[in-house]
Amino acid sequence: MKIAVMGYGTIGSGVVEVLRINKDKIAQRAGEPVDVKYILDLRDFPGDPMEQKIVHDYQTIVNDPEIGIVVETMGGVEPAYTFVRAMLEAGKQVTTSNKNLVAAKGAELIRIAREHGVNFQFEASVGGGIPIIRPLNKCLTADEIEEITGILNGTTNYMLTKMANEGADFDEVLKDAQDKGYAEKDPTADIEGHDPCRKIAILTSLVCGQQVDYEDIHCEGITGITATDFKYAKVMGRSIKLLAMSRKVGDSYSCMVAPFMLDASHPLCGVNDVFNGIFVHGNVLGDAMFYGSGAGKLPTASAVVADVVDMVKHTHVNIYINWKPEKITLVDYKDSVNRFFVRTTSDRAAVEKAFGQVSYVEAGVSGERGFTTDAMTEGQFEEKAAQIALVNRIRLG
Ligand code: HSE
Repeated sequence: MKIAVMGYGTIGSGVVEVLRINKDKIAQRAGEPVDVKYILDLRDFPGDPMEQKIVHDYQTIVNDPEIGIVVETMGGVEPAYTFVRAMLEAGKQVTTSNKNLVAAKGAELIRIAREHGVNFQFEASVGGGIPIIRPLNKCLTADEIEEITGILNGTTNYMLTKMANEGADFDEVLKDAQDKGYAEKDPTADIEGHDPCRKIAILTSLVCGQQVDYEDIHCEGITGITATDFKYAKVMGRSIKLLAMSRKVGDSYSCMVAPFMLDASHPLCGVNDVFNGIFVHGNVLGDAMFYGSGAGKLPTASAVVADVVDMVKHTHVNIYINWKPEKITLVDYKDSVNRFFVRTTSDRAAVEKAFGQVSYVEAGVSGERGFTTDAMTEGQFEEKAAQIALVNRIRLG
């Protein structure tokens, strides 16, 4: 099998490395050797062992009938979408690690692949090296999936873990994450939650078989989380995690990305550092947890190459993926029900006038008070919180 890799950055070079490190095992499992014939990139790579394979025009790959599989590791929607579409229409199978592309164009690319008798796979787009897309498509198909809750972003999980362990503030841990190469120079997609928002949109689309637009999902990042929040979390025996959630409600789904204070008994509470964890609840399965390396060069490349092996074994056989382009209307986030931890500078009388009976949390922070509420809708919470001087609020999980 001759393949092409589009994008020779961190993940693309990881794919080449995985194919080299595990060459023999991969050939045994695929049933034939897998060789990289082209690498598409804007740049040249003088001195790189793959230098001779670099091409700059994607049409070179489109027009080469020897190429059966194309790996897309460029990132972004365009030009990745144009290139991937052209590859599928030319009868080539495609795997991608690109969640932006899958969230925006997944349903359409799945349809095009099906029409051309090939496959479009995207295991690495969610959870890096953790198997979750194939399990949802192949292993959990007997279930009505009622809940998926994930820590789906390694960068922010690293930052929150460091804040919890060291009492450090947000800016300090962001700089450390950037110095270590976990956070990008422009960290917006991670710290504002856009990255896990696309990932939960992809997972929910697979669960419901319809298009879930990430723009419809209420999304909060971790930029408002401070060292003082962790002081409260500590006395409450909880950890603060950025969760991406999807729950079946009637015929629709309630989805949200936001920081939560998790109780020690929550299955995701102990998922620390750059690791990801994905909790799945099925109506007949019960609970399942997927845990592991959710980001990084080789873990992500591992999932991409596993797709390549799967596609070698399914040449000319389309593996059906139930993801139709018709958009589903999600439950209005203001109707979703949560409990809240609240920090306020208002006095107890004002707190109780707005919220009724609450449980106060004493963390030795002067000039303010912390308390937890009963369960209420997001809409009800906003009305009550407007009556006090709010410092911060974090949902309880
Ligand atoms: N920035 C992402 C993360 C990379 O930190 O999880 C993997 O999608």
